[in-house]
Amino acid sequence: PQKRTYRIASIPGDGIGVEVIEQTVKVLRTMEDLFGSFTLDIDMLDWSSDRYLEKGEYIPADAWPKLRASDAILFGAVGSPDVPDDISLWDLILPLRKKLNQYINLRPIRILPGVSSPLRSCTSSDLDWMIVRENSEGEYAGQGGTTHDDTAQTIATEVAIFTRLGIERTMRFAFDIARDRPRKKLTMVTKSNAQRHGMVLWDKIFYEVAKEYPDVETDKMLVDAMTVRMVLKPQTLDTIVATNLHGDILSDLAAALAGSIGVAASSNLDPTRQNPSMFEPIHGSAPDIAGQGIANPIGTFWSAAEMLRWLGEEGAADLLMKAMETVTASGTKTRDVGGTCNLAQVTEAVIAELEQLF
Ligand code: NAI
Ligand code: MG
Repeated sequence: PQKRTYRIASIPGDGIGVEVIEQTVKVLRTMEDLFGSFTLDIDMLDWSSDRYLEKGEYIPADAWPKLRASDAILFGAVGSPDVPDDISLWDLILPLRKKLNQYINLRPIRILPGVSSPLRSCTSSDLDWMIVRENSEGEYAGQGGTTHDDTAQTIATEVAIFTRLGIERTMRFAFDIARDRPRKKLTMVTKSNAQRHGMVLWDKIFYEVAKEYPDVETDKMLVDAMTVRMVLKPQTLDTIVATNLHGDILSDLAAALAGSIGVAASSNLDPTRQNPSMFEPIHGSAPDIAGQGIANPIGTFWSAAEMLRWLGEEGAADLLMKAMETVTASGTKTRDVGGTCNLAQVTEAVIAELEQLF
């Protein structure tokens, strides 16, 4: 059979993003050698805050055609103490998500073997969630403005945008995901008591789409009560669908409840497959630990596994998950999850496990 080739654009970014991507590429190279059935043509792109400081831009203006032609994007993290965070977000990550029509952000959260939850009695079967975050509009639509800047009368508006198109496609995606999981259960989150236009539309479309999925059990939560339920009754949740901002916040909470933000993965998907999808850990550049070699690479390994799955390499994705979970179970862990290893040691253990399991 012919060897499959995937063109991967990799953007390590800043801080620990660079460290975790370096390790993930080693893992991917091992998988390529073991399987022999696919090649990863990885293009490393230096779109970092250093580049911004030097050239005034993150993404070169002529980069889009080549990026669009890639099969997937593997992203680290962006953010530097020397660049305002709204610039790094709006000049790098958000243009990627928006221009490449990655309208779904999918975040699987589980307690991995050997990792303990800060919740005293929470076991791995109590917390196994799939968070579907709307990724193109809502509170991150970018509409608004500032008037009378630097005066005592400054006015700033931040307009949240909710469209029927954006909500409906997110709901369909979430119901499909919920239907494919054993519990067939979808919880929808809004704040439609206080925000009575966009969020009410969100609720309305949820119930409309629900009619097409009679086999999926549904329920609705207000976001504030949802934080309480996630902590006190994690076992009552399965698939969760939320707006851009709510999904962002709830998934950080979910990651912390599953043991660490360092283990959490995400996929920015264009479900139409007309553009490459982008895979990244949910954490940021972590300037507080950058350069120390102690960042947890597991969230990025998991993201790479999701990338392989999206590309159709299910076998490779499953093997990587299994190797990762065997390693966390064995106690080879970074400090954020209670271990003493550095990231290179975790990577070496995962590579050894891949070779063992293959
Ligand atoms: P952060 O996720 O970078 O760090 C939060 C805390 O978690 C820190 O104490 C950090 O040390 C720890 N942490 C994060 N990832 C870890 C890992 N893999 N292993 C061990 N510990 C880990 O969030 P923060 O501090 O709010 O933001 C730092 C910078 O990252 C900012 O510039 C922010 O804008 C940016 N950021 C970028 C994101 C992205 O690229 N997608 C997402 C979130 C933040
Ligand atoms: Mg976030």
